[in-house]
Amino acid sequence: MNPPQLTPQAAGLDPAGLPQHVAVIMDGNGRWAKQRGLPRVQGHRAGMNTVRRVIRACGELGIPFLTLYAFSTENWKRPAAEVSFLMNLLLEFLRRELKEMNRQGVRLRRLGRRDRVPPRVLAQIDRAVKSTAHNQGLQVNLAFNYGGRREILDAVKKAAKARTPLTEESFGRHLYTAGLPDPDLLIRTSGEYRISNFLLWQLAYAEIVVSPVLWPDFGERELVAALAEYQRRERRFGGVEAVRLPQTVKRHA
Ligand code: FPP
Repeated sequence: MNPPQLTPQAAGLDPAGLPQHVAVIMDGNGRWAKQRGLPRVQGHRAGMNTVRRVIRACGELGIPFLTLYAFSTENWKRPAAEVSFLMNLLLEFLRRELKEMNRQGVRLRRLGRRDRVPPRVLAQIDRAVKSTAHNQGLQVNLAFNYGGRREILDAVKKAAKARTPLTEESFGRHLYTAGLPDPDLLIRTSGEYRISNFLLWQLAYAEIVVSPVLWPDFGERELVAALAEYQRRERRFGGVEAVRLPQTVKRHA
């Protein structure tokens, strides 16, 4: 039997004060596995189930955008067997979940570079992006082979070629995240206080919530706790007055 539908009201959250965009650094898979005497990669496999749970929960809560840091440009430094496992895991996830993502109305987008990613993985991501392009529910941005510094450098190169007046807005259109609202909330699991080269430009005014829970153990309860913490924050964006962002965003992406 499916678990009951999660609603902001049932979760004790203010539906009008939910973040438009939640970004997540999914950390702690390796430690989760080590604590159980398992190989690190089993932590990633368990982490895949959390990805499924969090996508579903964000969709049910009506959050419009979720960005998941699935593989960084620095993760290539990991042992070849772990890198290969992560590539295959994404492939498996997309193959197995595509139908369910379509059922939930999830729209997938990829953020990151295509170089070095095995062609079969790229092809599967492209297939999933195309297949979900018309869905109207939660947009899941998969940051894969993503690095914030690299993204900024790539955008600088494009901006230089474009030769149009440079403003924060026009520069933003050269980033991988063009058309997306900046994240309102960054969640990092496993108790680490670092940004790790994630969305360096876009996180300028994000509220940061660090959960002590390791990613494979992160669930609906922890997500709701992070959202409740976000709702207790007062956002001033450098000013003195609390700012409440409008509820609906137009999708340009
Ligand atoms: C960080 O934990 C996690 C990663 C580098 C990979 C994230 C991958 C997943 C959650 C698996 C599935 C993803 C998708 C999208 C299907 P870590 O290995 O650095 O943990 P540690 O700090 O405890 O070693």
